[in-house]
Amino acid sequence: MSDSTAPETGSETTPNRRALVTGASSGIGAATVRRLRADGWDVVAAARRADRLEALAAETGCEVYVIDLTDDDAVTALAAHLTASGGLDAVVNNAGGAFGLDRVEDADLDGWRRMYEINVLGTLRVTKAVLPLLREAGAGKGVADVVNVTSTAAQGAYEGGAGYTGAKHAEHMLSQTLRWEIAGEPVRVIEVAPGAVATEEFSLVRFGGDADKAAAVYEGYTPLAADDVADTIAWTLSRPDHVNIDLVTIRPRAQAHNSKIVRGTGA
Ligand SMILES: NC(=O)c1ccc[n+]([C@@H]2O[C@H](COP(=O)([O-])OP(=O)(O)OC[C@H]3O[C@@H](n4cnc5c(N)ncnc54)[C@H](OP(=O)(O)O)[C@@H]3O)[C@@H](O)[C@H]2O)c1
Repeated sequence: MSDSTAPETGSETTPNRRALVTGASSGIGAATVRRLRADGWDVVAAARRADRLEALAAETGCEVYVIDLTDDDAVTALAAHLTASGGLDAVVNNAGGAFGLDRVEDADLDGWRRMYEINVLGTLRVTKAVLPLLREAGAGKGVADVVNVTSTAAQGAYEGGAGYTGAKHAEHMLSQTLRWEIAGEPVRVIEVAPGAVATEEFSLVRFGGDADKAAAVYEGYTPLAADDVADTIAWTLSRPDHVNIDLVTIRPRAQAHNSKIVRGTGA
């Protein structure tokens, strides 16, 4: 079934479909909203900052949903809203981030709590809430999707990164476990794990607003852009119904590992 106004995606699971994208007010989430709208999806864009979501809605025609994903009741209300307004075919659990780059011995417990709360429990909370809707959509249309945006931080350690790598490892295990638990049902579980992506806020947030430290992360090489990740997400969603892309790792060419970035070679 395809929307005549949508570009051809080559998928058996083409729109008219509806996606929820979390963390849509900046970076990878906003780029994913733009890309899915261009591909013909209806998109519900969720985050805390209404002004940024409203600007995205004016640009793309997405629906705005202002929410703090650390709030259980708010996520329950989001699921009720989605149920009452047409259901859901895909969720892109993208909201997340890193707070600090402290060695274990200097770790800030509050920063660790916040990382677990948004990356792990935020993804869990949203997934639990919308899974019944995805099951229903999958049963009716052939397939529905959970896409979790983790990180290469889910694949290995780096110094100062334990709070974030721990949270992203947990998100990875959540993804893998859910895939095993619902195997055979018409809901795919997809993980997209980016390396260094130069988004406007990720490193600024990590370094508490220190613009020089944030800029240094991306100096001397070409990092991924948010659009590169959005493109990957859209590709996973557009595979034929019987294909589950379990995990895509996407890095800049200059990055071989979390802590190995080759600078100054033109890569
Ligand atoms: N940039 C990278 O290098 C990189 C690499 C690998 C993986 N990732 C992962 O990719 C995802 C997106 O990263 P990004 O670079 O696009 O980061 P970003 O620009 O900092 O965006 C993070 C998004 O999460 C939202 N968010 C944070 N806390 C929230 C909460 N409590 N409730 C609702 N929304 C919340 C933010 O919106 P509000 O502040 O408006 O709520 C924002 O839209 C994250 O999961 C990140 O861990 C990033």
